[in-house]
Amino acid sequence: MTDINISIGNATFKNQVFMASGTFGYGIELADTVNIGLLGAIITKSITLLPREGNPPPRIVETLSGMINSIGLANVGSETFVKEILPQYDKSFLPKVIVNIAGSTETEYCETLKLIESVSSNIIGYEINISCPNVSKGGMEFGIDADLTARLTEKLRKATDRLLIMKLSPNVTDITAIGKSAQEAGADAVSAINTVIGMSVDINSRTSNISTTYGGLSGPAIKPIGLAMVHKLFTALSIPVIGIGGIVNASDAVEYILAGATAIQVGTASFRDPNSGPEIVVGIESFLDTNKISNFNDLIGRLKTRNKSVTG
Ligand code: DHB
Repeated sequence: MTDINISIGNATFKNQVFMASGTFGYGIELADTVNIGLLGAIITKSITLLPREGNPPPRIVETLSGMINSIGLANVGSETFVKEILPQYDKSFLPKVIVNIAGSTETEYCETLKLIESVSSNIIGYEINISCPNVSKGGMEFGIDADLTARLTEKLRKATDRLLIMKLSPNVTDITAIGKSAQEAGADAVSAINTVIGMSVDINSRTSNISTTYGGLSGPAIKPIGLAMVHKLFTALSIPVIGIGGIVNASDAVEYILAGATAIQVGTASFRDPNSGPEIVVGIESFLDTNKISNFNDLIGRLKTRNKSVTG
């Protein structure tokens, strides 16, 4: 059987299937329903310095091949997270845990990370959400600006030796410019893509189906966008790229890996089937066995070029 261990920065994972932030709670809620031990990692919902109730309803709507959400970073806040949730990631909690952090200022991101660093825990690292489309302050502001991305990454890098992943927004002209800033400032990896800004309209009430008018589109509808952006990042960067966007089965995951992803995240698919992640782990293993691929790394970025790209 193929060895599917991977390493990113100073972290190793038993496989390349991670559960995406905001779609799998803190991981603990699903431990009885899902065989979470099969997963490479889970990424927590975004934690902010203070607790947040999030945006008013309606904040989720289904769309063709996807969904739009505007949760507004609802979460328990860093203090409760550290006191009540972090200790639950003990030795019996099997998947590696990556904590996702969001904020509206540089200081807020840094204080949240430092608070988590100040206690002993088993977490493997951090994913930094610089790409939330649904808050009025911060969030995507960082992810659309190469200088802000560099500054924030540099500060966070100084505050932790753990794995540091910057989660990039697709709502930009050139995602590689932001990725390069993150890389140069010391990020171990980038993850892409976060949600694409979208809208859905109720023609009877003549209102948006989302309270904040716009939200973040996710699911299979965005897979082609994610693939293109992952491929561009893989081509432009030397650090690993973690692919996200519309992965519902092992074949989707292999598409991302061929496009250049070292690992992938399963998000929206979990809402339909919380076991999607573990099923994708098994599916990738069987793809590798069937195709007699003995080294997983032989698949990463091995997309064959048909013609020279005209869009760069
Ligand atoms: C939210 C955060 C995100 O990063 C995203 O892509 C979509 C929604 C939120 O909490 O509203």
